[in-house]
Amino acid sequence: MRFHILTLFPEMVRQGLAASIIGRAAQKGVLSIDAVNIRDYTIDKHKKTDDYPYGGGAGMLMQAQPVYDAWKAVAQERRPRTIYLTPQGGTFTQELARELAREEELVLLCGHYEGIDERVLEEIVTDYVSIGDYVLTGGELPAMVLVDAVARMVPGVLSNGISGETESFEGDLLEYPQYSRPEVWHGKRVPSVLLSGNQKDIASWRMEEAKRRTRERRPDLYRRYEALETCIPYLQKNKLLHIDMIELIRRGQARLIYQSGANICLCDRVSGSYLHTAEDEQEGSKALLALRQDAKERGETAPLLTLHQQIFCGEAKRLLGVEEQASYYQVVYTRKEKLPITGLYSLNGKKQRASDNANDAVSFIRALTMEELPVVAAVYRTVDDEAYLRERIERGWMFGAYIDGTLAGFVGMHAQGGLGFLEVLPRYRRRQIGRALETYLINLSLERGMTPYAQVAEENEASIRLQKSLGLSFSKQKVYWMEKQHPEKL
Ligand code: 6GU
Repeated sequence: MRFHILTLFPEMVRQGLAASIIGRAAQKGVLSIDAVNIRDYTIDKHKKTDDYPYGGGAGMLMQAQPVYDAWKAVAQERRPRTIYLTPQGGTFTQELARELAREEELVLLCGHYEGIDERVLEEIVTDYVSIGDYVLTGGELPAMVLVDAVARMVPGVLSNGISGETESFEGDLLEYPQYSRPEVWHGKRVPSVLLSGNQKDIASWRMEEAKRRTRERRPDLYRRYEALETCIPYLQKNKLLHIDMIELIRRGQARLIYQSGANICLCDRVSGSYLHTAEDEQEGSKALLALRQDAKERGETAPLLTLHQQIFCGEAKRLLGVEEQASYYQVVYTRKEKLPITGLYSLNGKKQRASDNANDAVSFIRALTMEELPVVAAVYRTVDDEAYLRERIERGWMFGAYIDGTLAGFVGMHAQGGLGFLEVLPRYRRRQIGRALETYLINLSLERGMTPYAQVAEENEASIRLQKSLGLSFSKQKVYWMEKQHPEKL
């Protein structure tokens, strides 16, 4: 990802971003950070970039010409997203960071003095962003804050193989306290449960501490957490049907749009799609109205939506202009124990362990790389959007089975959290490769604390057979995918 930072103090920005994780990623070439000195572009013979404001008032204003020419030098014929860092902007959030991380290129404009001539802002700025309700002397520190937060969401920047997306599982809760050696420091002991080795006790202690800390320090976040927790018992009344909504909350990915009893609407923070369920017709409509309001505020004109009752399809169409695209059964792996892998990974007759570093083996399962994108995109025709496949591969959520070193099939996890993308290339079918791939992903999901689930179409008999043989449970009712109709879609 490329950042261009337009500033009167390029050294400040370069130095600030040269160290630590961001500096290392820039050296590796995952990021490029280009600090442009606006002063280099002034046509004034004294290199002046500011002047007095018309109408009077305190301080100086940055003039339009140098800012515009500096931007033009970077933007050339493109119109890259251009962010002006200003206390007059909307507040920077993790959600905006996640959204910006999907751009290939960002231009950041740092103001100074009393601001910048409005006319140049009108021509080049796409987003006005503030980092909080206080006033700083310039936009350089805010620009560095934004680059740091956005860059850590870019795949390959964090070295531990975990992306910024999957890292924060706690959602609305703050982190629990942590301790390292020594066991006693200044007379204070590490909480004994952490030395017990009992992972279940440790997990529940950490959960309680996270809740307590959030309640004490961030009551606003705690209320959001509680409101989402309130939904869980209602959703669990039909656990199979609502597994997508339950998992979204459990994985810290949900934003609550509406709740009144069992009438609930959530938004997926990662994919931006909505999930709706209702047992009451009036309340269900209210939930859809709240959804429409939320989508409008986000500037989303074509929301994706999963309904959990067919009776709301008509209302969703009237209110949102979305139409039923497909319907699926929810298929859930309800057990906690991993699936046995005996025999399953013995692709090509040889028993192999699935591992990320098995390239020396003849047959194995490992995460897909970008090199495989063209093959995967050609085989997996259900997704017309290659950018989505690319993103899933980048995030480390796509896996391939290799036989004699050749890609034979793949599986992955959707942004919303369901298992999917399962495909075996024709000449490798009837060899249990789909089964091996799904087993691999189910076990990986369990390791990461998720309940594995998938959405399966009624007519997909091969998949239904596989899900049944792996012991997954089917929901009685279906869910309905709603989307604005694409005329070119087959
Ligand atoms: Cl983006 N700029 C300035 N000058 N002050 C700020 C800010 C930005 N965000 C919070 N305070």
